[in-house]
Amino acid sequence: MLMLRKKMARSYKNFSTDFVILSFISLAFTPSEASNHKFKSKMSNYHIKNLEEYFQVYRKSVRDPETFWEEIAEENFVWRKRWDSVLKYDLEKPEVKWFEGAKLNITENCIDRHLYTRGDKTAIIFEPNDPSEKAEHISYRNLHERVCRFANVLKDHGIKKGDRVCIYVPMIPELAVSILACARIGAIHSVVFAGFSSKALSTRINDCDCKMVITSDGSFRGNKTIDLKGIVDEALESCDGVKTVLVAKRINSEIYMKVNRDKWLQPLLDEAFHDCVPEIMDAEDPLFILYTSGSTGKPKGMVHTTAGYMVYCAYTFKNVFQYREDDVYWCTADIGWITGHSYIVYGPLANGATTLMFEGVPSYPDFGRFWQVIEKHKVSQFYTAPTAIRALAKERLDFSDKYDLTSLKILGSVGEPINEEAWHWYNDNIGKKNCPIVDTWWQTETGGIMISPIPYSTPTIPTYATLPLPGIQPALMDEEGNELKGNLVDGRLCIKFPWPAMARTIWDDHKRYKETYFSAYKNYYFTGDGALRDSTGYYRITGRVDDVIIVSGHNLGTAPIEDAINEHPAVAESAVVGFPHDIKGNALYGYVIIKDTGESRDRDNLRKEINQIIADHIGPIAKLDKIQFVSGLPKTRSGKIMRRILRKIAEGDTSNLGDTSTLLNPEVVQEVIDNVL
Ligand code: WT7
Repeated sequence: MLMLRKKMARSYKNFSTDFVILSFISLAFTPSEASNHKFKSKMSNYHIKNLEEYFQVYRKSVRDPETFWEEIAEENFVWRKRWDSVLKYDLEKPEVKWFEGAKLNITENCIDRHLYTRGDKTAIIFEPNDPSEKAEHISYRNLHERVCRFANVLKDHGIKKGDRVCIYVPMIPELAVSILACARIGAIHSVVFAGFSSKALSTRINDCDCKMVITSDGSFRGNKTIDLKGIVDEALESCDGVKTVLVAKRINSEIYMKVNRDKWLQPLLDEAFHDCVPEIMDAEDPLFILYTSGSTGKPKGMVHTTAGYMVYCAYTFKNVFQYREDDVYWCTADIGWITGHSYIVYGPLANGATTLMFEGVPSYPDFGRFWQVIEKHKVSQFYTAPTAIRALAKERLDFSDKYDLTSLKILGSVGEPINEEAWHWYNDNIGKKNCPIVDTWWQTETGGIMISPIPYSTPTIPTYATLPLPGIQPALMDEEGNELKGNLVDGRLCIKFPWPAMARTIWDDHKRYKETYFSAYKNYYFTGDGALRDSTGYYRITGRVDDVIIVSGHNLGTAPIEDAINEHPAVAESAVVGFPHDIKGNALYGYVIIKDTGESRDRDNLRKEINQIIADHIGPIAKLDKIQFVSGLPKTRSGKIMRRILRKIAEGDTSNLGDTSTLLNPEVVQEVIDNVL
């Protein structure tokens, strides 16, 4: 006993001791349950520490994936029952099962097991929209109580294991708590980003038959407030299956509450019991549904399951961000996207980390807000999107210079290829050339980060996501469907072996899942992205393959052309699309945002200079036929440029632009149309 205590004390900071501690104090287990599973006494080494070790671990993960994941699963999580098999798969069906037979609850892994060692540690820092409002620090103990109370409220309203609950809540603590409360009782959460329109919301509620909606009276975004409850009311006019709406108070506005359907959350929480026994789930029970837009048709409800997702998120979080016990980690994404699910909630909490939730926007009250928050909370890892970096890089440097950013250790980027100029700006002005940048490539469908440098191990190169994480086997395919072997090749990016966090299906549409991801190449998961592998084996994501434009028989990726344009000192951001051309087949049309420097510029000169840069970087073939200067680019809420709309405008066909109301900035569409060349 004494030896065990000493060992515990010594390795207090070691993630892998948690099970030992838990079973020892029987916090969540009866002794018989805990002894069901013989845990190895060996401490797993979760952190990869150098490039050599990365290669060793990577080779092992490819040679023997089952042993690799089994050891990680075994040594780092709490299981109620051990699995019967590590992996079963058939990519033709397709069917993938990880840790089949295992029983667990993910909230026990994200919360309960930390209570003994980290009960008073901050699990979540909530930084409000308004900088004068006090930040909230939620300890693991407090999080446990809040999740349990919320879980009991769900149960009191008839929610059971397997039921779908729609969560349409802004970035306030109730969002994270409601997700975890669903997971506590085995309900499947379907978070819809609280910026989607009522139509987008009702489509998602109906697609997976949600019984309940959790929302708030409204939300703050910069100097605006948004009437979320009004949007829910409108959506529910066409959602018969929703019996209950739980409403969190945030903006204190007078709102309509429908009798017998709508209930204020807080009084229910106050009355609920503070403890809730977790529902014991099968490894492959669905944990959540998250919608992602396809290139055609209605949004796809990607289904993620419990055990594999948990193991993968936790492992990748720890390694990609090299998380250490006292770090404060901040991902600026909204929890409404997969980035927030995996790397604000589940990944960090499974590691006992402190994760920051930010309610606001980077431009409020001014463009220094991100940097002010980093200084205030001494953030160690900062994870954001290239679109945010480019927007902030457009502004004066004193917005970042006036804050102390020395707490930063690692910077991350996600969501789209990060162009070279933005990478350097981030590296120079935020990282002070002292923080590795992890350019992380992944997708809603992959559940977790797939290709990324491991900080301090993998040398970084701007615009390269670098190397696959352990367990990930990328493949590049040519047009005929052959895998391109060796280095210095580019093709369509596929993954040729299952990984634990892959989405298992599309809700209610397994056929579409198979068609979208497993039909282009037999026995490969097709990502929809193009990539190249350089002479050292590094991967560079070149963009969606649907954005490739053939000009005079040459394949041109839009991303490298945009990179080149963005190299021009006067350019803030750009987007390139193809339009039909009599002689070339397709020609290139560029939409360019110019930095606001106060000085006026000769537009024709600028066009010439931009084309010269393109010619220098790629070749004269990639020169743009038309360059339109715009004040903004139409973007999705997650910051992706809507090329489909830009393509139509460039083609001169504005008759059917589709629904533009869910865009981040629908107003720019008309401006772009009005000034088309
Ligand atoms: C698509 C997935 C993964 C969370 C956020 C987006 C693009 C994502 C990168 C990156 C180049 C990237 C890809 C991918 N993408 N990260 N580091 N470099 N491209 O999730 O909405 O499912 O989008 O985003 O095109 O397929 P998503």
